Formats: sequence, C-alpha cells, structure tokens
Amino acid sequence: MVSPRGRPEDAHLEKSLRPRRLAEYIGQERVKGSLEVFIRAARGRGEPLDHVLLYGPPGLGKTTLASILAAEMGGSLRITSGPAIERAGDLVSILTNLKPGDVFFIDEIHRLNRVVEEVLYPAMEDFAVDIVIGKGPAARTMRINLPRFTLAGATTRLALMTGPLRDRFGAVLRLEFYDPAAMTEIVTRSAGILGVPIDPGGARAIASRSRGTPRIANRLLKRVRDYAEVHGAGAITAEIADEALGMMEVDALGLDDVDRTILRAIVDKFDGGPVGVATLAAATSEESDTIMDVYEPYLIQLGFLQRTPRGRVATRRAYDHLGVPAPSAAPAPAQRTLGFDEA
Ligand code: ADE
Repeated sequence: MVSPRGRPEDAHLEKSLRPRRLAEYIGQERVKGSLEVFIRAARGRGEPLDHVLLYGPPGLGKTTLASILAAEMGGSLRITSGPAIERAGDLVSILTNLKPGDVFFIDEIHRLNRVVEEVLYPAMEDFAVDIVIGKGPAARTMRINLPRFTLAGATTRLALMTGPLRDRFGAVLRLEFYDPAAMTEIVTRSAGILGVPIDPGGARAIASRSRGTPRIANRLLKRVRDYAEVHGAGAITAEIADEALGMMEVDALGLDDVDRTILRAIVDKFDGGPVGVATLAAATSEESDTIMDVYEPYLIQLGFLQRTPRGRVATRRAYDHLGVPAPSAAPAPAQRTLGFDEA
C-alpha cells in the first residue's frame, strides 16, 4: 500500500502545487492576517521582516509560508534543518553567505544542538557572529557582521525549544488543521494545477479524508487521479474518490492503518490506557517521536485520544470508531472542533 503520508515521491509536483504568494494561500486566516501586517509594515519601513517562528503538526504549510515570506519580501529562501547543522562552523558559513532581505529557514529548529544554537543568538539579535581565532591564551574573538536577514524557524514541538531561542522571534505563529471548506478549496486548486477534472463531491470526498492537512490531500489527490484514470473515465467524482480511498485503506475520517494500529493497541493491549508513549511505540513498532509529531495531533483533535500525566487514554469515541464496546471507564472526549462529516 502506498502510505498517504509517505515521503515526497512527487517532490517536484508537490512544489508546483504550493502557493507562491500570500494571496494564493488558502486557509490559516489568523496566521495569514498576522503575516500580512508584518510584511506590509516591514516593507513600508524598508526593513527586513522580523524573525518568525511557525509551529504545528507536519504538512500544514510551514515551509510554504517561509517561501512565501521570501517572495513577498523580494529575498531568496535558504532552507536547512536543525539536525543538518552539526557544527557551529556550518551555521556561520550559511549566515555569512546570506544577502540582505533573505529568508533563512530552519526546519525542526528544536533539534539544533546547543553550541550551534548559541551562535544564532547574536545572529538574530545583532546580525553578527562571534568567532574564536586561535587557541589557548592567544585566542581572540572576532565579530563578523551579517546582512540583515529574516530567520524563519519551524517546529512540530514548541515545548522542546529553549526559552532564549523562542524569545528571540518577533512573532510566534501556530498553524492549525485546516477546516473542511479550506481543504476542499485546496483540493480543487491542486486538481486544477494537475489538470485533473474533479467535481465538488470528489473534492469534498478527498478533503474530508485528508486529516485537515494539505500535504496529505495533495498526495491522496494524486493517488485518486491514478485510480480514476485506470478504473474510471479520468474524472474524479465522489464515487471514484470513495472507491480509491477505500482501496488505500483510508477510512471515513482519514485514518490509515497506522492510526488504527495505535488506537487498537491502546484499546486491546492496554485496556484503553493510560499507556506511556514509549510503551505504545514498542507495541506498535513506531518511533515515539513519530507517534507524537505525526499521529497523535489529529487523533487528539478528533477527540479519540487524551494525553494525561499517566499516559495516553482512548476515549469512547475511539471505541465507537473501531466498533469495539467501550468499558464504562473510557472517558468521554472533549468537544470536537472539526466539522467533517463522519458518514
Ligand atoms: N497547497 C498546499 N497548501 C495550500 C494552501 N494552504 N493554499 C493553497 N494551496 C495549497
């Protein structure tokens, strides 16, 4: 089975589906509104944008927004990630090669090592880096000035960032799962770019099973397109989308086999919980980080899972979805905030 969350196999198509300007960007109205103000104000003053930290689950558009910031400010985008910068020297060399107004994007910024992170502080605050020349008593520090750039940081785990790094961002913006109307609009837009005929029912069917996540929607859209070409007349209707997604084992709420394995493990192996993430990871052969970053946020959003101090607990709604009778101790979920049809 092709995982709807697999790594980018159509990386170059994926890129072309990304909106390039803020005006093309659908959804995330709160974040967009804030960015619009920052961009206009910075442009008005003829200054680069203040550093921006974007956080939220994967696939919601953090990288896309960073590239939009660069485009809107007329700079270039330089992309790297926390774990890719191993030594302070690697970071210094990137920083000294930036041009004024460039946007420097660090994905997974919570995974930067501490020594590297300390180089970032003066870079962000004073647009300068201090390097040590020589060794022992003869060592001297030398300050190198940097061009005025914008740091765009992204993280799925805000809580793992150190306070000093977090505090150096002028804006901290949280991305949320997209609502059904925005998801449907995104699927329709992407189908237009791919040149696939799709009717409103087909767009809604894909949107409603994409976990409020555009990256998943675009991936499912491509797989449904394949199915439509092989089993249909090439156009995506609700019926074709339902058949294709059923074949891919993506259920009515967009949950796939890994989501169900996680829920079933809590229900069947741990009596509904509480169970710690590390134990759950061992029981499902997934990494703890993957469970926390990729799977849990949507299960929590659906009200299927609760995080408690003693571990994860399955709610009644999770039992209902799995078709398993809930024990009386299963908690009722907190209210749901997404409006997708559950039919
Ligand atoms: N493609 C992926 N995410 C998108 C978004 N937020 N708006 C428009 N197209 C997108």
